[in-house]
Amino acid sequence: MKDKFLSAREMFPHTNGIVYFNTAAYGPLPEKTKRAIVDNIELRLAVEKEDIRQMYALKDTLREDFGSLIGAEARQIGLSMNTSTGLDLAAYGLPLKAGDEILVSDVEFPAAVYAWRGASETKNLKVTFVKSTDKKFDIGELEKAISDKTKVIIVSFVQFFNGYKINLAGISELCKRHNIFFVVDGIQGVGAEPINVKELGIDILACGCQKWLLSPYGSGFFYISDSVKDKLIPQSITWYAADWQLNHSDLFKYDLPYFDTAEKFEAGYYATLNMLGMKAAIDIIADLGVENIQKHNHALIDKLASYLKETEFYKVKSSLVENERSSIFTFTCDNHDSLFKYLLENRVKAANREGSIRISAHLFNNENDIDKLIEVLTAYEKNYKSKVAAGAN
Ligand SMILES: Cc1ncc(COP(=O)(O)O)c(C=O)c1O
Repeated sequence: MKDKFLSAREMFPHTNGIVYFNTAAYGPLPEKTKRAIVDNIELRLAVEKEDIRQMYALKDTLREDFGSLIGAEARQIGLSMNTSTGLDLAAYGLPLKAGDEILVSDVEFPAAVYAWRGASETKNLKVTFVKSTDKKFDIGELEKAISDKTKVIIVSFVQFFNGYKINLAGISELCKRHNIFFVVDGIQGVGAEPINVKELGIDILACGCQKWLLSPYGSGFFYISDSVKDKLIPQSITWYAADWQLNHSDLFKYDLPYFDTAEKFEAGYYATLNMLGMKAAIDIIADLGVENIQKHNHALIDKLASYLKETEFYKVKSSLVENERSSIFTFTCDNHDSLFKYLLENRVKAANREGSIRISAHLFNNENDIDKLIEVLTAYEKNYKSKVAAGAN
């Protein structure tokens, strides 16, 4: 398996120049993506050959690929441009009436909050924030917040700023018991942490592909469960909601049946260049396998965490408990803002989030990256302490 990860690393040109631990912000692209996109642009420039059939076939393959990734069928997957499209589909499309309540964590990423805020303004819904504990999603508080009016629970699979992996199975059980729609934002976990939407009883999962799925900006997909599909009243329908079977020679057919699949909810023609990028990346991920990627990422984080725990200077902030941890890990220290700059100056790209340094470990990272990070952290601690000793800080 080590060799496979090594070969995968070689597919990412950035690994020659920078230690990249910022996939939770945006995933780097593999070289294959560039090639696939440039080849397609050349084809389109020449206009000798049509690629529409190829693109339709690619779309179906991608829907299968994403389905396999999350334990769903291709028919339950639609392609989108980002996470928000899927979240909006839930917010505007679920059959809700004035006064219905949506529960969302008070430390949720704004994408979910804004989707429901917008929908609540037009549909008179009530958005209630569930109290977190120590900035972690708290299922006990969620349970206490459920009332007769609660109709939707929306959570992120993994919290964006501290990597806390949410107990989706526990929430699913609550949703079933109280007859609540279960909506999940998958972007910070899908591709690095295994998930099975069917086993978890998720109704709608929304996922952008620009992070852990290593795809161009403007790529995403959504999952719609069979039980919710026919209840959804989408905010918009496009002519691509119907199956034209690629027959565009007779377009005055205004009463074609809609797709009986998640494609009904897609938004017109596809971002085909992005689809090529999505395919290049998902092949790498599928070849390694998400369980193996998770193991790989967690082992790298463990190495870093053991180092940090031995210092008095750095404080681990993320949970390392098996079912709460993810491929996002955070720690902090005095003056973490200056540490963030110091990391960048030393060509280590992390993120500065909510008072901590956020490290995202993904399939292209290796132990050398962690060694380099540890080397920079050791130097920073030493410099900082000598400045303090000299009275400079
Ligand atoms: C949890 C979460 N949801 C959504 C997004 C982004 O949403 P979208 O893909 O719609 O831009 C991010 C980060 O950018 C995120 O961390």
